[in-house]
Amino acid sequence: MNTPQHVAIIMDGNGRWAQRRGQMRTTGHRMGVEAVREAVRSAGELGIRYLTLFAFSSENWSRPEDEVNDLMGLLKFFVRRDLAELHREGVRVRVIGNRRALKADILSLLAEAEDLTRNNSALELIIAFNYGGRDDIARAARGLVDQVARGELDPQSINEDAISNALDTAGIPDPDLIIRTSGEQRISNFLIWQAAYAEFVFLPCLWPDFGRADFEEAIRQYSCRDRRFGSVAERDLALGS
Ligand code: IPE
Ligand code: IPE
Ligand code: MG
Repeated sequence: MNTPQHVAIIMDGNGRWAQRRGQMRTTGHRMGVEAVREAVRSAGELGIRYLTLFAFSSENWSRPEDEVNDLMGLLKFFVRRDLAELHREGVRVRVIGNRRALKADILSLLAEAEDLTRNNSALELIIAFNYGGRDDIARAARGLVDQVARGELDPQSINEDAISNALDTAGIPDPDLIIRTSGEQRISNFLIWQAAYAEFVFLPCLWPDFGRADFEEAIRQYSCRDRRFGSVAERDLALGS
């Protein structure tokens, strides 16, 4: 089976999972963290090299303050509980997103996770936290303009690669497959530049229910896709049609 090198997941549906059980949204988020654990394990076993998880969007600040605090707390809980094990398993942790609005304790935990696992290479786990695609592009543009203003960069040399290299995902290949759970079929400002040629798989299951079988189903759907990148399919070229 054709395994994607980079899978990115929009982990959606925690709130609905809880509501259907008459529970608080927080409970859904807490169960979502368990699904994260399983997804990371599955990704490694399935031979995926890069796994990006959308954990908190730059638009999620508009949720009630309590829920925002819960999501911040759960990120800390996840890193504190699982970092040593991730490191043992050879996982490299990277964080993308805008760090400006994040509190000092979160920033230092994220830095600790990145530093500890810097030389690992079994799987790269990229956590998108306070991430927005438009914010990523705006920050990249500012960085490039600063370099131009300092006379370090010729504006004529700003091409697609230069922009890719100025994004938070510099050095990470574009996602091959983007999975979204919960049945919603939208990108919600996730990797909008990087997703130019990604395949999308939308699954009906809610994120806390996402397990190994769902991951395999998404990869099965991906492996049936014909990725043409604007060209013609190889088999059609061979037929000369
Ligand atoms: C995804 O679940 C988690 C985050 C966005 C942080 P939601 O909280 O969006 O769950 P629904 O969409 O309300 O069910
Ligand atoms: C996208 O889910 C963000 C994350 C999964 C972190 P949302 O639930 O915030 O997206 P919308 O609001 O339904 O588009
Ligand atoms: Mg949602």
